[in-house]
Formats: sequence, C-alpha cells, structure tokens
Amino acid sequence: MILVTGATGTVGSAVVAALSGSDDRVRVATRDVAAVRDELADVDDYTRFDFTHPETWGPTLVDVDRLFLVRPPAVGVDRVREFVDAAARIGVEHVVYLSVLGAEKNPILPHRRIERHIESSGVAHTFLRASFFMQNLAEVHRRDIVEHDKIFVPAGTGKTSFVDARDVGAVAALALTEPGHDGRAHDLTGAEALAYADVADVFSGVLGRRITYADPSVVAFVRRLRSRGTPLPFVVVMLGIYTTARLGLAARVTRDVETLLDREPIAMRQFVAEHADAFRE
Ligand SMILES: NC(=O)c1ccc[n+]([C@@H]2O[C@H](COP(=O)([O-])OP(=O)(O)OC[C@H]3O[C@@H](n4cnc5c(N)ncnc54)[C@H](OP(=O)(O)O)[C@@H]3O)[C@@H](O)[C@H]2O)c1
Repeated sequence: MILVTGATGTVGSAVVAALSGSDDRVRVATRDVAAVRDELADVDDYTRFDFTHPETWGPTLVDVDRLFLVRPPAVGVDRVREFVDAAARIGVEHVVYLSVLGAEKNPILPHRRIERHIESSGVAHTFLRASFFMQNLAEVHRRDIVEHDKIFVPAGTGKTSFVDARDVGAVAALALTEPGHDGRAHDLTGAEALAYADVADVFSGVLGRRITYADPSVVAFVRRLRSRGTPLPFVVVMLGIYTTARLGLAARVTRDVETLLDREPIAMRQFVAEHADAFRE
C-alpha cells in the first residue's frame, strides 16, 4: 500500500496519475475526502489526513508500507517530523520525500531539516530535490499572463532550470515501485535553464500573442500580490525563490530526469502548449 500525501496538489496528483494502472494499492490522503473523491481516477482508497490533526494519522497509516511525503508550505517542520516518526513506528519501509534542488547545501532550510530527520529515522528513503515547477506559471502567475500579457516576477536576468511537476511525479512513482532508490537523492530539473525573458518568448510563440517579461521591483511585486490577498508568508517564500533565481543560483541543470525516465524531460514549449487554454481565458 502506497500512501500519497499532498495527493491533490501539483506533484501529488502527478504521483497518483503515474501510479494508476500499477499493481500497487494507492491511498490518497486529503483534508477533504468529499471534495476530491470523484476527481482522481482509478483510486478508491481515500483517507482524511491532516498534518495538524495527529488523530487522523493512525487510520491514514494502517497497512501502509511506502509513503510519498510532501510538506505543504503552511505546515511546520515539527509536524512533518512527528509524522515521519509515526510512519516509522507503524512499519513504513520506504519514504520518498519531495524536497528542493540544493537542499543539501542549506542546513537551516525546512526541507533539509526534514531530510535529516528522515535519514536518522532508519527508514529507507529517497529524496526528490526538484527545481522550480513549470506549473507555478499556470497557478500563481497565470492571472498576469491572461490579463496583462506579462510574466510578473522579480527574477532579473537569472536563469531557472524549470521542471514539469509531471516528471517529478513520474520519478516518484518509479522510486516507490522499483528497487534501487534507497539512500539516493535525485536532482530533478528540466533539460535547460531559461531566463524569464526566454520563457516569455516561448509563451509568445505558442499562444500567438506577445507575452513580455515585466521584471518588477521587489516592492511592486509585493504590492501586487498583497493587493490580491496573497498571504504574507507565501509572498516572502516567493521573494526568496525569485531572489535565488536573480542571483543565478537556480540554473543548475542535471540529467537525472532523463536517466531515470529514459526520455527527455518535458520542455517549456510542451508545457505551455498543453496548458494553452488556461493562458487564453
Ligand atoms: N513550487 C515549486 O516550484 C517547488 C519546487 C520544488 C519543491 N517544492 C516543494 O513542493 C512542496 C509542495 O508540493 P506541491 O506544489 O505539489 O503542493 P501544492 O500543490 O501546494 O498542494 C499542497 C497539498 O498539501 C495538502 N495539504 C495542505 N495542508 C495540509 C495539511 N495541513 N495536512 C495535510 N495535507 C495538507 C493539500 O491537500 P488537501 O487540500 O487535499 O488536504 C495539497 O494536496 C513544498 O514542500 C515545496 O517546497 C515546490
């Protein structure tokens, strides 16, 4: 039995999709079973699960031997670590944890603190250290593209090795179902690093209208997000991410996706083409 946390989220839903058709039983963890029951195909095992409600953990973990672990951005590190302990106690044999690219270099990063806890738990584990998801463009930044024909992030000319979350989900499914991933960290990026001006050009080419890169100041960026009601902690996290990109620290490209999936990573052009309707609304 594979338990997928964050199963309704960007990567978790890709993990569930990648596992569909496999012989393994899959359990979807969500805070709101009723809301998602009919949305995820090929899954009939749902459990109400909340990191902040430990009384939901026991039923969630019954019969589980493998765990896909996501830390939702709003959930504290301690809660996730306690859940790892509960999983270890109940006999979960393998944890595949969604981390971030470069986590190993930053001991105070929440993701690295969770990685270290998993390492010390004694449970077999695989870390997926993912670069920035292409899907962010279709989520937090979609409105700027649709309404203003602009990509509005303060990343300067820095490049980012964007990865499609579906590739992350496909690698997670492999790590959960085939041997050979224990004790390993996979660094998951796209095949190339792109500056946001390059990304805007890809959008223009695919959508057939001119999309430009706005490169706003930090103040303008914060103002716009706050005016839309984006919570301050989320804005701060995004500023950290785009500052990292601006400094040229988000550009590392690896071949892990290609090696593991035996195909090229999904390219930005394909991602935009497949989401074109969402950018035209
Ligand atoms: N965005 C990026 O570019 C990027 C890159 C690398 C790594 N990451 C990491 O990826 C992780 C986020 O993954 P994602 O983008 O796939 O997630 P997401 O789309 O933001 O979805 C969050 C998921 O967490 C669940 N959730 C929220 N609060 C919860 C709680 N209290 N208890 C249990 N479940 C809860 C939600 O499920 P329900 O609402 O159904 O309960 C939802 O499925 C973060 O750790 C982030 O740092 C992000």
